[in-house]
Amino acid sequence: MGILDGKAAVVTGAGRGVGKGHCMHLVKNGASVVVNDILLEEAEKVVEELKAMGGNAIASNADISSREGCEGLIQQCCDAFGKIDILVNNAGIVRDKTMLKLEDSDFELVWKIHVMGTFWCSQTAARKMVEQKSGGSIINTTSGAHFGSFGQTNYSAAKGAIASMTYTWAMELAKHGIRVNAIGPLATTHMSATFSDADKMPYFPPENNGPIVCWLCSEEANFVSGQIFGTGGDRISHMVQPHYGKTLIMPGGWDVENIQKQFKTQMQGEFGAFGMLGKPYPFHGGVHPPANDD
Ligand SMILES: NC(=O)c1ccc[n+]([C@@H]2O[C@H](COP(=O)([O-])OP(=O)(O)OC[C@H]3O[C@@H](n4cnc5c(N)ncnc54)[C@H](O)[C@@H]3O)[C@@H](O)[C@H]2O)c1
Repeated sequence: MGILDGKAAVVTGAGRGVGKGHCMHLVKNGASVVVNDILLEEAEKVVEELKAMGGNAIASNADISSREGCEGLIQQCCDAFGKIDILVNNAGIVRDKTMLKLEDSDFELVWKIHVMGTFWCSQTAARKMVEQKSGGSIINTTSGAHFGSFGQTNYSAAKGAIASMTYTWAMELAKHGIRVNAIGPLATTHMSATFSDADKMPYFPPENNGPIVCWLCSEEANFVSGQIFGTGGDRISHMVQPHYGKTLIMPGGWDVENIQKQFKTQMQGEFGAFGMLGKPYPFHGGVHPPANDD
């Protein structure tokens, strides 16, 4: 008996890395899985491994950067397994450049795969779940990069959008019994090999992100929705939802003079850990134009 016995799942971008790990754990816990990856051969290899474990799995090479690709993928799950209960939006790419050098095409590609792909797959799956009256579980994939990550305008924007969609969908879909959560994984993969500090990182097994995904998709987690967890390595970390912090009140509203008088003393101390790596706030001394050497 597994906690996901009888459930039908789709995992996008699952031909390798984090998504492949999710599939291994979903099957181990009783789910039937559609292993999606634009790299068909990789998806097929994963299916073979899952079948060798005694699992029920099929491959899909749908491109989730188009609405048709996403709709076809969810339909494939319904055709093969009669329904969809679980969607894990995991597929992703990076095209890292600092903001000053970033081309529109690299922004659009990253946005389309991460944000639109997550939206199209989730909308199609949620509509099926509503029709089925079965409830369901959607797991999105964000990243600490959405706190701010040097060289990742496109990726951090996409991951921030995914976090925001997670909160919104949790509110909208609860009445249909659909829960929506997200993870920010940590794993040694093709993608992590592109990180600037890749050579200094210890090995993080991609499959370590799978157990929490399975548990979140199970009935055991029926009280968890709209939550994001940092996963991977040996940790599960609650990614705290952004919220208003210290608030200054000026009856009748603030004017520039009062802001000038109070801001530095009352607000500057609030500027804490900054960016994905949580470094101390680096701008206390001011941000200045470069010195003119002429
Ligand atoms: N590895 C990490 O430490 C890390 C950290 C934070 C977030 N993430 C996120 O985890 C997810 C998985 O990343 P990974 O590290 O396993 O990378 P990966 O490159 O190993 O796997 C991503 C997979 O997505 C597939 N894919 C890309 N575009 C696709 C498309 N249009 N349609 C279908 N499949 C497509 C790729 O072919 C690839 O197999 C991504 O969303 C990534 O942003 C990873």
